[in-house]
Amino acid sequence: MSGFRGTTMVSWFVLAIGFGVYLLCGSAELQRFEHPTKSDGSLSFLVIGDWGRRGGFNQSEVAFQMGRIGEKLDIDFVVSTGDNFYDKGLTSEHDTAFEESFTKIYTAKSLQKQWYSVLGNHDYRGNAVAQLSPLLRKIDSRWLCLRSFIVNAELAEIFFVDTTPFVKTYFTNPDGQNYDWRGISSRKRYITNILKDVEMALSESTAKWKIVVGHHAIRSVGHHGDTKELVDLLLPVLKANDVDFYMNGHDHCLEHISDTESPMQFLTSGAGSKAWRGDTKEMNKESLKFFYDGQGFMSVKLSQTEADVAFYDVYGRVLHKLNSSKQLLLHQSI
Ligand SMILES: *[C@@H]1O[C@H](CO)[C@@H](O)[C@H](O)[C@H]1NC(C)=O
Ligand SMILES: *[C@@H]1O[C@H](CO)[C@@H](O)[C@H](O)[C@H]1NC(C)=O
Ligand SMILES: [Zn+2]
Repeated sequence: MSGFRGTTMVSWFVLAIGFGVYLLCGSAELQRFEHPTKSDGSLSFLVIGDWGRRGGFNQSEVAFQMGRIGEKLDIDFVVSTGDNFYDKGLTSEHDTAFEESFTKIYTAKSLQKQWYSVLGNHDYRGNAVAQLSPLLRKIDSRWLCLRSFIVNAELAEIFFVDTTPFVKTYFTNPDGQNYDWRGISSRKRYITNILKDVEMALSESTAKWKIVVGHHAIRSVGHHGDTKELVDLLLPVLKANDVDFYMNGHDHCLEHISDTESPMQFLTSGAGSKAWRGDTKEMNKESLKFFYDGQGFMSVKLSQTEADVAFYDVYGRVLHKLNSSKQLLLHQSI
């Protein structure tokens, strides 16, 4: 009898300690992936967003130019900023849109690399969980889409953040859309945990370049403009931790905006297929460096001391470049 009671007490004790640890840490650590650099220690990749339309709206033309530039830069991987499949994500892991909008479109040799993807709001309008499924990796091994995760590529660390649940109106006023909120029982708790995880990972990072990727813009002059929730909640975390670049899609354009109070640069690459011509907002005008409302994509080349970013149109022509140096100040050229 007393033995039983003793065991019970020990169990309660263990449980209490476990709960204490849970309260202290609050959430699980973000999943990490290691990606090696080139032998000279440099790294290059392409960034594309808002693309899956079975080749339509110049998606195939953009894909062709990505292949060409990808070869020229000998890219190590591709980053997708979300809204991977239009109009409502995938219906299941067996949805043929996966192959018709991804596998059969990005066919160039240079693009047969790992793709790191986040979910966009349109992906949440379908079966969001399907896009996260390892089954898709059996169909096309390049595919890796998770909610929030980290790619550690030695000189750069890239923090992928699931931004759709930050946007309150998707919950309170979904405008006739059905969002797949499975796995997100409480919006508040979900975003609190993401912020805590990202903050901790950023503060512990020793990488030369810290890059954060999300679907929604923090700063934009496009149709959607700034995302208030990200300005209020995520931006302070990025600024406090010396993030170099925030990269996003969502607005169907290419743009470069400087932060007014820190060296951080906001880069939008959401022009993978349908573009929204002439749809802009009157904001961020003084910090806007570049805006293009046609289709295209972005490339990033990193070394220990320099970051070279370029934006391309549907013909693969360079529209805008920025160089950022760890020792020197930022330089820009057209
Ligand atoms: C494809 O790109 C060209 C060049 O920017 C543009 O003139 C054309 O309207 C685009 N087509 C579509 C369907 O967006
Ligand atoms: C900017 O990048 C280009 C391309 O990598 C390079 O040729 C050029 O020297 C760089 N400019 C500066 C000012 O660092
Ligand atoms: Zn979007």
